[in-house]
Amino acid sequence: MAGEAKSVTVPWVAAAPRRGDHLVMITAYDFPQGKTADAAGVDIILVGDSLAMVVLGHPDTLSVTLDEMIHHTRAVRRGVKRALLVADMPYGSFHLGPEQAVASAIRFVKESGAQAVKIEGARTDVVAALVAAEIPVMAHLGLTPQSLHRLGGFKVQGRDDKAKEAILAAALELEEVGAFSLVLECVPTDLAAEISDRLEIPTIGIGAGAHCDGQVLVYHDLLGLEERIAPRFVRRYAELGHASREAIARFADDVRNGRFPAPDESYGAARPAGETVGKVYG
Ligand code: KIV
Repeated sequence: MAGEAKSVTVPWVAAAPRRGDHLVMITAYDFPQGKTADAAGVDIILVGDSLAMVVLGHPDTLSVTLDEMIHHTRAVRRGVKRALLVADMPYGSFHLGPEQAVASAIRFVKESGAQAVKIEGARTDVVAALVAAEIPVMAHLGLTPQSLHRLGGFKVQGRDDKAKEAILAAALELEEVGAFSLVLECVPTDLAAEISDRLEIPTIGIGAGAHCDGQVLVYHDLLGLEERIAPRFVRRYAELGHASREAIARFADDVRNGRFPAPDESYGAARPAGETVGKVYG
């Protein structure tokens, strides 16, 4: 666990480069995922709009709504005690301008308990307005999936000099207007290293090499629950998709062959002293 923080705050995250800490961020989308990630000691939990793809089964992130994001952020909130909880502002929740952005972000704070929001793209106008409204902002540059159609696909960004300059300039401006951290997605390692050196706020990389101040992965990628997409920046630390299929197939086999439930998984007519059913659903 990086440094010592009883519960992670925005200033603690912003000061990570000065401490020399490597920040650890992961996405989560519901109560058990939030609880698991928090118990594992990550510093930041992001309710990403990747929700659209890895949980809701959409082909991209564009269709997820603010209401859906708030619903899931609220569930994650119930599981998180230590980590900083950041909510991703979905496509269409800030694109009309600062006024809409502040209204959307205030909903996140009041209705879900998010402590900060993440904004994709070089929207300095929006970031400045959110900061003025006391809402901390994590910026996000490079491959910004909400710009999918303009970019022409999920492609590495900042490979030529002009694109590099544009991303570096945007990073400096976002820091200037008050972003407390910056996600860099799918940019060359040397560009991410230069941005990390030039900024005081921490950079958090995904497909941006090892020189960022922190790293983020999507929960379902890290645990092998998302098996359709395998970008090169994903390292799978478990194969839970495979393990889940095996477990459910064993359950099905036991039911079909009369091996489940066993007598000690069933109730007799007489109630043994002290028996409680425990929690049930439905
Ligand atoms: O939506 C998301 O999960 C993200 C991370 C990949 C940074 O934006």
